[in-house]
Amino acid sequence: MADLVPNHHAHYRQFGGLFGYLAGLTMIVGRGRDARLVSDLAAVGSDDVVLDIGCGPGTAARQAAGRGADVIGLDPSAPMLRLAGLISRFRPISGALEWRQASAETMDLPADSASVCWSIASVHHWQDLETGLDRLEDVLAPGARFLAVEKRTAPGATGIASHGWTPDQAELFASMLTDRGFADVGVSNHSVGRRDVVIVSGTWPGSGNNG
Ligand SMILES: C[S@@+](CC[C@H](N)C(=O)[O-])C[C@H]1O[C@@H](n2cnc3c(N)ncnc32)[C@H](O)[C@@H]1O
Repeated sequence: MADLVPNHHAHYRQFGGLFGYLAGLTMIVGRGRDARLVSDLAAVGSDDVVLDIGCGPGTAARQAAGRGADVIGLDPSAPMLRLAGLISRFRPISGALEWRQASAETMDLPADSASVCWSIASVHHWQDLETGLDRLEDVLAPGARFLAVEKRTAPGATGIASHGWTPDQAELFASMLTDRGFADVGVSNHSVGRRDVVIVSGTWPGSGNNG
């Protein structure tokens, strides 16, 4: 049953050292469409404070900053953050962009500070989903939009093809958000170039629902 959980790659190797740099380099190319899609769906604007959990080399974070938002790109991998910082030096952006080394489970950010949060191709790697979601609830401002984006995978897929969510894994994550009091929780499917992605989204109503 472990395969069914949304963080089924929790014990996958961490993105450290040379592997982290090589993996990060593969994520620099072809992620622009995902970045635009998520910014469009969240309607990111210059009034937003965006948190990108598991930002990798930072494509989506830069997209949001390019729309004038203040952005925090957060990732536990030092190589990913080095790549993110390096690439960002060569991209003109209008919003403030900051990189922080932390995981979803250890992030320590001001309460109620993010109006938008997303996590792209990352939730399936989180070590402890419940702790990560506890931290997320702390940092989301009332009315904040949250989107978890994953490649759509087929049940029984193995290797690199399994890095994402089956329809059942997406539905299970959606039900976790609903159980935690998120509003307007939905699961939607999108084509991004030649890839299909599934997005679980919801709105955080605020501290009144935070137990
Ligand atoms: C497949 S990469 C995706 C990177 C980026 N979001 C993108 O789409 O280009 C997954 C990222 O999640 C990060 N990650 C792994 N475990 C994490 C955790 N527990 N909390 C936050 N991020 C995590 C990894 O370090 C890695 O950068």
